Amino acid sequence: MSGDSPTGGKKSTVLVAGATGTAGSAYVNELVEAGYDVQGTVRPGSDTSVLTTSGAIPVKVDLTNEKPTHNAISDVDVVFIALLGRGEDAAENELEITQNVIDAARAASVEHVVYTSVHRADEETGVPHFEVKGEIEEYLKNSGLTYTILRPTTYMDALSAPWLRNNIEENGALASPILADTSITYLDTEDLATIGRLALEVGDLQNSTLPIGGPRAVTYHDLLPIFEELSGHGVTYQNVPLEQAEARMGEDIAAMVRFFNEDGFVVKNDPIVDQLRIQLNTVEEYLTARRRTKQNK
Ligand SMILES: NC(=O)c1ccc[n+]([C@@H]2O[C@H](COP(=O)([O-])OP(=O)(O)OC[C@H]3O[C@@H](n4cnc5c(N)ncnc54)[C@H](OP(=O)(O)O)[C@@H]3O)[C@@H](O)[C@H]2O)c1
Repeated sequence: MSGDSPTGGKKSTVLVAGATGTAGSAYVNELVEAGYDVQGTVRPGSDTSVLTTSGAIPVKVDLTNEKPTHNAISDVDVVFIALLGRGEDAAENELEITQNVIDAARAASVEHVVYTSVHRADEETGVPHFEVKGEIEEYLKNSGLTYTILRPTTYMDALSAPWLRNNIEENGALASPILADTSITYLDTEDLATIGRLALEVGDLQNSTLPIGGPRAVTYHDLLPIFEELSGHGVTYQNVPLEQAEARMGEDIAAMVRFFNEDGFVVKNDPIVDQLRIQLNTVEEYLTARRRTKQNK
């Protein structure tokens, strides 16, 4: 029923809040390809080409401002949220903009809200941008709206981020504050987006909270041979002291790394995700595809 409204007939109009981001742009591409009419929020002054090239309609809106947020959402059927706060108090910014979007979705009586949270959002992890999502999840559940909460682990994009990749390619060093034996079930955002779309099409995913990870847990140790094969030279792990990383990446990210190093970030997928029969991409497949895309540019 790609693109059809759950109530039948016309194509659903979906607004993606955070459409310029890693997860947001994956949702946009997935939903456009499936035939939905897609709109995406863009901050005033930001580049809109990321949306127009995929065939989505950019909606310039300041999500910190209640009235324009309500206007932007007044005429859509479904809202996807993939927002991460920015600025001095990013978690507080995330709470404000996300609550504004949920309030606007409720005022517009949208059919469904798909919210991008994070694995273990409801626990005391000490990670501000994780804990704020626990608060937002409760806010959404209490809104009376039909919801699906997706709780992904780390996106595979973290493995192709320039700060990591450039060092591998130029110096043969996988340099990171994440320890070499920290296990993570990295998730491809293409798979996250597929599950997000299916939330609109499979009734069982309504009003559910789904932890989602990739097909297997891996450590940097496991990944070294893959990076070596793809770069064509030796790669060794180099630990970046957490204090040094904190100075560069800030307290929130440092808290996340500390949490990962202590606990890992591994999820066993909910049986519902298994029932969707999606062939989840492996890290090898993701990195190889990224390398090919880069070579073809
Ligand atoms: N990255 C991961 O590995 C990971 C894993 C699990 C969960 N998550 C969660 O998934 C969500 C999406 O993550 P992501 O990695 O896709 O984030 P991202 O790439 O940083 O994108 C965040 C989006 O939020 C928008 N945004 C930020 N502040 C805004 C504001 N004040 N007003 C309007 N828009 C604003 C950004 O717009 P601009 O482009 O204009 O800044 C961007 O579109 C986040 O909540 C994140 O915590 C991420």
